Order: sequence, then structure tokens, then C-alpha cells
Amino acid sequence: MSSATPVTRRMSLPSRIIEPCLAGPFRFDSWRDGPSGEVVSSSRIRTLVRDGDLTQAEAFLGHPFRVLGPIVEGDRRGRSMGAPTLNLIWPADQVAPPYGVYAGRAGLAAEKPVPAVANFGIRPTFGGGDPRLEVHLLEDITGDHYGDQVRFELLHHLREERRFESPQALQAQIRRDVETARRLLADRL
Ligand SMILES: Cc1cc2nc3c(=O)[nH]c(=O)nc-3n(C[C@H](O)[C@H](O)[C@H](O)COP(=O)(O)O)c2cc1C
Repeated sequence: MSSATPVTRRMSLPSRIIEPCLAGPFRFDSWRDGPSGEVVSSSRIRTLVRDGDLTQAEAFLGHPFRVLGPIVEGDRRGRSMGAPTLNLIWPADQVAPPYGVYAGRAGLAAEKPVPAVANFGIRPTFGGGDPRLEVHLLEDITGDHYGDQVRFELLHHLREERRFESPQALQAQIRRDVETARRLLADRL
């Protein structure tokens, strides 16, 4: 179609790939860099996610890398630290990014996605545990939502997960993470 804009060409990519099973390989023509005819395979995208290169993974996917899962109960520590979280167990069949803190968008059921910051990891400050994604919403929603499905789109990798000397030191870092996430997400919502 001669009237197709660069954006509509890019928008046509998502149908090529259905989560969580990535299809491919296919040829990728970047609307920013001009047609390159680069071959993109699902294993290439999985490697990008494993390396934490979410920007390139998003460019190839045509949408942000995202995860969907049921909300499970955490240790209820987050609320007392001023950062209540929706927790989900990372699906075993889904490729995982490096442990760390991510800014992104979170959506519950049919509701509009809201800005969020999330930790994916084992919480070394509290002795470690099973790998979990803990999503702290930057806009209020009501209820605890246990059992509901949450979708989280990972847009930016902020930092690695690490062990803090005290819960207070972690709490101060989470406040900084929230500020960084708000700034980075301002143009994506
Ligand atoms: C933005 C954010 C960043 C976090 N970063 C770390 C971290 O670097 N190290 C760590 O041990 N835990 C980190 N956590 C996890 C917290 O330890 C965890 O959310 C808290 O213990 C509450 O867990 P709970 O929901 O199971 O009660 C982070 C959590 C959030 C929301």
C-alpha cells in the first residue's frame, strides 16, 4: 500500500509473534533505519531479553516484552516499606530478563495499564527466595487482587537487584527507583 506510513508498517509486526511462544524467523525492516532485511528469530529475541536489551527486543517484537501471570500472595513486607507490590511467579516457560529493577506498565484484566516499577529477583536483602516479579504501581488501584491476572510490560532496566545493609537503605533506594521510573515513563503513557 503506497500510502502506508512508517508507523503502520511497524504496527504490522505484532501479529507475527504471539506470546509466550515466539514465532519466527522473519525479516525485520526497521522504519527508523530503513529496510535492512535482517533475519529475526525467536531465539535472537530470547537472547536479547536474557541480556536485558529490552529496547532492541521491543523493536523486533513490535511491542514491549511482557509477562502475564496470576497475582500471588507475598510476605506483606512491601506495604510496611511504603511500596506495596503485586507479586507474580515468573512463568516457567517464559524467557526471563536479568534479575533487577524495571520501569514499565502494569495492567489488570481489562483495565487501562498504569505506570509501575518492578523488581524481578530473589530479594537478597531478606535472605533470598524463589524468583518473583514484584510490581509496585505508581497509580492507586483498590483491592488486593489475589488470583487476578496481571500483565507487566518491561520498558526500561533501571538497575541490578542487590543486597542492602538494612530495610531502610532498600526503602530509600526504592523511592529513588520510583522517581527514575516516573521520569522515564512520562512519555510512554
Ligand atoms: C522497586 C523495587 C526495587 C526493589 N529492589 C530490591 C533490591 O535491590 N534488593 C532486594 O533484596 N529487594 C528488592 N526489592 C524487593 C523488596 O525486598 C520486596 O518488595 C519487599 O521485601 C516486599 O516483599 P513482599 O511483597 O513479599 O512483602 C525491590 C522491590 C521494589 C518494588
